[in-house]
Amino acid sequence: MATRTPFVGGNWKMHTTLEEGRALARSVVAGVDDIPDVEVAIFPPACYLLPIMGVLGKADSRVLLGAQNCYPESKGAFTGEISPVQVRDCGGRIVLVGHSERRHVLGESDAFIARKVRSVLAHDLTCLLCIGETLEQRERGETDAVNEHQLRTALAGLDASIADQLIIAYEPVWAIGTGRTASAGDAQQAQRAARRVVADLLGEEAAGMIRILYGGSVKASNAQELFSQEDIDGGLIGGASLVGEEFVRIVEAARP
Ligand code: PGA
Repeated sequence: MATRTPFVGGNWKMHTTLEEGRALARSVVAGVDDIPDVEVAIFPPACYLLPIMGVLGKADSRVLLGAQNCYPESKGAFTGEISPVQVRDCGGRIVLVGHSERRHVLGESDAFIARKVRSVLAHDLTCLLCIGETLEQRERGETDAVNEHQLRTALAGLDASIADQLIIAYEPVWAIGTGRTASAGDAQQAQRAARRVVADLLGEEAAGMIRILYGGSVKASNAQELFSQEDIDGGLIGGASLVGEEFVRIVEAARP
């Protein structure tokens, strides 16, 4: 069976001032120094990518820098957007694509998300693709079908060659920022099903390599139980990533 290096990402969303962000990045760098067996990334607001890179030191530093979003073109007349080239220029290595706040608050379509996946991969960045169902969809029993649809539309036409550039995060929309977490068993079940879809799309070997994270109200107190599930390879952390110590405890909980 494939061994997957656990991954924990901190999605800061539209939080922190520059000074708070610098201090947070410093505490993450110091805190994860002796946890070498977990890959760690932080996703600050776009305007702080460069100064936070200054804290991390270099693009292939222990803590990787990621962007919360980018536009699917290299450059052009797209007011207010940032391109994958610009993300790379700032030292970014990973881009979040399809986060539920972009799907549901900002109205991004499956087709637009698919373009972003391709563009991020083409620019030699890691794509952290987020999927997940709303509360209504869950109550209708559609969790696996929604995840499957989102995976099939986002990954259509791609093959196993992108496996080492792709991370998936299952984030049930009703669990994000609400304090409600999916039970470890429910998350495992959904993620096992998602991995079957990835196997169908990209092949068994790729599906065995690709990390599938859980996201949605992960805290230091519930991380271990979630991360101990077979198909949960770490987490994408929102609120709890804004407190350095708590985030580091979550990273610790992801150790193999
Ligand atoms: P949360 O956010 O941990 O605050 O629920 C997770 C996310 O949006 O990635």
